[in-house]
Amino acid sequence: MKTKDKILILLAIVLFISACSKQEQPGKIKLNEKWKFITGDNPEFAKKNFDDKNWEELSVNKTWNKQGYPKYYGFAWYRTKFYLPSSLKKNAELRDSLILKLGKIDDFDQVFLNGVLIGENLKNVNRGTKPTDDFKNLDYSFWDKQRRYSLPVNDTLLKWDGENILAVRVYDWGVAGGIYSGKLEITMPQIQDYLKFEISKGDFSESGNKFVKSFSIRNTSAAYKIKGEIEVDLRNNLSDEDSDLLEKEIVLPPQTSENFIVKFDKPDYSETLEYEFEFENESETKLTEGVPYILTPPEKETPQINGALVYGQNTNKPFLYKIAATGKRPLTYRAENLPNGLKLDKQAGIISGKVAKAGKYNVKLIVENSLGKDEKTLEIVIGEKLALTPPMGWNSWNCWGLSVSQKKIADAAKAFVEKGLINHGWTYINIDDGWEIKGDSKKPKRTKDGIILTNEKFPDMKKLGEQIHAYGFKFGIYSSPGPLTCGGFTASYGHEFQDAQTFADWGIDYLKYDLCSYRKLMKDKKSPDELIPPYKKMHEALIKTNRDIVYSICEYGYGEVWKWGEKVGGNLWRTTGDIWDAWDKMYEIGFGQAGLEKYAGPGHWNDPDMLVVGWVGWGPNLHRTNLSPDEQYTHVSLWALLSAPLLLGNDLTKLDDFTINLITNDEVIAIDQDKLGKQASRIYQKDSVEVWAKELHDGNRAVGIFNISLKNKKFALEFNKIGVNGKVTIRDVWKQQDIGKFENKFETPLPAHGVRLIKIFKENKK
Ligand code: GLA
Repeated sequence: MKTKDKILILLAIVLFISACSKQEQPGKIKLNEKWKFITGDNPEFAKKNFDDKNWEELSVNKTWNKQGYPKYYGFAWYRTKFYLPSSLKKNAELRDSLILKLGKIDDFDQVFLNGVLIGENLKNVNRGTKPTDDFKNLDYSFWDKQRRYSLPVNDTLLKWDGENILAVRVYDWGVAGGIYSGKLEITMPQIQDYLKFEISKGDFSESGNKFVKSFSIRNTSAAYKIKGEIEVDLRNNLSDEDSDLLEKEIVLPPQTSENFIVKFDKPDYSETLEYEFEFENESETKLTEGVPYILTPPEKETPQINGALVYGQNTNKPFLYKIAATGKRPLTYRAENLPNGLKLDKQAGIISGKVAKAGKYNVKLIVENSLGKDEKTLEIVIGEKLALTPPMGWNSWNCWGLSVSQKKIADAAKAFVEKGLINHGWTYINIDDGWEIKGDSKKPKRTKDGIILTNEKFPDMKKLGEQIHAYGFKFGIYSSPGPLTCGGFTASYGHEFQDAQTFADWGIDYLKYDLCSYRKLMKDKKSPDELIPPYKKMHEALIKTNRDIVYSICEYGYGEVWKWGEKVGGNLWRTTGDIWDAWDKMYEIGFGQAGLEKYAGPGHWNDPDMLVVGWVGWGPNLHRTNLSPDEQYTHVSLWALLSAPLLLGNDLTKLDDFTINLITNDEVIAIDQDKLGKQASRIYQKDSVEVWAKELHDGNRAVGIFNISLKNKKFALEFNKIGVNGKVTIRDVWKQQDIGKFENKFETPLPAHGVRLIKIFKENKK
């Protein structure tokens, strides 16, 4: 071969390899996984030449709480170096700016490049901006937001082909702090990076039978024009067919936006809006949004008694039971065969008093209005157990976090009544962490007699209890066996008996007892031998009081709590860490309950944590749940099948039609509250379909068929696989309609991440 040919072949190989490697490594620089770290605050730490060699190294993959600073909050600094090769710029498609992706930062951040502030709390700042502490007064935080800052490539701050220093000042106001999501990098933009869909997920306005969705697309680039085509399709998730709602060629000059409206019929089945932008270079940006759809039929005007039909209380302890009933107001209530010591308020439907004699009493409840009446038997069991069905109610944590206040609790109770939730069996109004006086682990902050103090946001606990009880609700509170709660407030360590009595004096009916700082007092936080004593102690304290207090153990499932939770007096126990409103989290927790069914039953329940539907947020700044409508149907159906405590965690003053219907379907709630108290088992799992079945007290079965994939599916439930013989009647539980009789199998479409919740009748209905 001639030398010239050899050179050509070599060149071709080099070009080929470089083309491949260019594809495999789009221009980006990965930032270090470990950064220099120090707690405290000092403006010197921002400086380029500051000597940080004595600082320790911390991963930017997890919060500082998980790396040796479990209780630290306040200011801390991170620093790292990176080399910026000019090849990054040369290889880039667009060369106007540089993007710094710094992951998620809990709670606030100020980012300095080579000593100069370039961005804070999600926004780039103008050069020369002086860092202030104003964000400390913000009512909200950005703890779960990805930080992304940009600066022009020709910014003189940047040291191309040289070393650059990044310093990040972080301020955390509690719970957990730091840079924590990993994947920190520096990149050059691509044209797709400049297109922003502004959709406001979940916001649909209504016009008659139509939904109107407004949205816009924005070109955020100061230099480049965006050209391409926008398309919006509506996908029917049952038939998997698409219809086009919009198709348009678009040219967006730099820093402009264009608004759009699409209009379509309000569905009563699962649909997804698919937004797509195809750029000139054929790359695409896509986004999907589930359309809310209501399955629950409208409430009937005739009376209907709802909620649990078995209720437990101890002898001589204050009894409180609100008859939950829907129907046109006014309703009148009657109760026949009430045990001695109880009386009924006929207008309010509240049964109260005290029963001295243990036993089982079958009470006939009758609810009437001008259109008719309903009758049901309530089994009152005195002297055995509390929480004979899983507690149902609301807890402040998933919406208000530590910003909870007496007013917010009182508003939640009021909203329970005004929005009609009280008519469906929702009972508990529970305060989570954040009501206590800020703690000090060395010296408990209490009165001189050792009585626990509330903080200024809770001026009158007793009054709050009275307000809550006046509606017929139960009142719940939170504490920890350690000296401090998870939020750093005073907890019950060393004052268990005193606190239990204080709670009883306030009218408390439910205590969530959260391990938190007790972990510091343990050698092995997962050892049942060490976990049992503090939980047992509080149980002993609770039963000594003059009230019945449902006992909710919260220690995240450590030491297989389900095996000993009942023995230490627990009525429910968390089986996992905290939930939040992401499919992966809800999936991991909910579907991870398989195998725990044998530990649940009347009076003792597995608790897969609270519901994340509606507006949630863990602090004052709330957002609509990130779960799609189908994911929410899955969440509520699964929790009902699991006989899980149903504790809402959303802002009840902000309830849309979808959410109300999701949490007031009496047939779904009845599955959860079924008096047999059997938690569902997973009876089938294959190809991303899971089938969970629960035995009910009437001998029928509730069955959830779940599609855990992101694709719509059709599925045939074969009866021989789930032990069903012959021809059976099947009912659609969400729609509250019998679907028909089926033999051998039941076929159903399943939307992506969606569910079909059915009831299979043991007898063939006529
Ligand atoms: C823990 C619990 C949560 C909540 C917070 C309060 O994380 O698991 O449910 O109670 O503490 O600080």
